[in-house]
Amino acid sequence: MGIKFEKVTHSFKNPDGRGMFIAIEDIDLTIDEKSEFVAVCGHTGSGKSTLIQHMNALLFPSKGNLEIFDRVIKPKKNRKLNQIRKRVGLVFQFPEYQLFDETVLKDVMFGPLNFGLKKEEAKEKAIQALKMVDFEEKLYDQSPFRLSGGQMKKASIAGILALEPDIIILDEPTRGLDPKSSLEVMELFNDIHKKYDKTIVIITHDMDIVSKYAKRVVVLDEGKKVFDGKKEDLFIDPNFKTFHLDYPSSMKLAIDLKNKLNLDIKENVLTFEELMEELERI
Ligand SMILES: Nc1ncnc2c1ncn2[C@@H]1O[C@H](COP(=O)(O)OP(=O)(O)OP(=O)(O)O)[C@@H](O)[C@H]1O
Ligand SMILES: [Mg+2]
Repeated sequence: MGIKFEKVTHSFKNPDGRGMFIAIEDIDLTIDEKSEFVAVCGHTGSGKSTLIQHMNALLFPSKGNLEIFDRVIKPKKNRKLNQIRKRVGLVFQFPEYQLFDETVLKDVMFGPLNFGLKKEEAKEKAIQALKMVDFEEKLYDQSPFRLSGGQMKKASIAGILALEPDIIILDEPTRGLDPKSSLEVMELFNDIHKKYDKTIVIITHDMDIVSKYAKRVVVLDEGKKVFDGKKEDLFIDPNFKTFHLDYPSSMKLAIDLKNKLNLDIKENVLTFEELMEELERI
């Protein structure tokens, strides 16, 4: 078993010190350790980052039960958490929270070194990971804090790939990347997913990414799980309007074509290829 949430609630102390704020509430969720590609969606503040930070035990439940690789996660049993963090790699929403070392290369080497690799092996893993995200070689010795937002994002992704985790969790991996880099990064995760059958969990606001890459979608709304199912069922869910999500572009176009040109086509098309097939059919 990969990751299992049972009735997990997480509350933060309110900034004014008075009372608690419930960020996620009563979450039941199981993610297999292999073969899953899950998108976590929901509007700003719905609890997505809070939820996924439980998946490698960066946050602990305030209530409920959390198991990662069959280990019950409790704040006081901290000793074995490092092992979990190697097996479940998490790329933060804001790369500046993750990067810290003097140079990009040192930063990406940190994880492998920390988990016992020799310097040369760690360097090899780091370079391999930086190449996977197509990070410019001339910036390896640059301070991570002098990089652009997109370069920082790539460096932070490389830092996790270098650990070769079993499950890869990414908080808005394409945020700040140009369209070409976004596509490359998503194709990379898709390749990793397909080639090694690894479970990937991403948070994204981009419904085109959801419709193209995800197999399963979890939707949060005000801290509650309001949808958990196949992506094919998301956009036709009777409650879709209440999820505060957009349709993918292929579906928007299909709806327009159907309504404005009176075409008798299916609306729930997840890709432009599917839309083309519909158009060829009529
Ligand atoms: N460390 C914290 N202390 C107090 N409140 C927090 C903390 N982190 C998150 N919250 C609150 O919990 C709620 C959920 O936050 P979270 O970051 O999980 O949302 P999100 O769905 O990831 O949003 P976004 O799409 O903007 O990234 C928000 O109302 C936020 O203000
Ligand atoms: Mg977030």
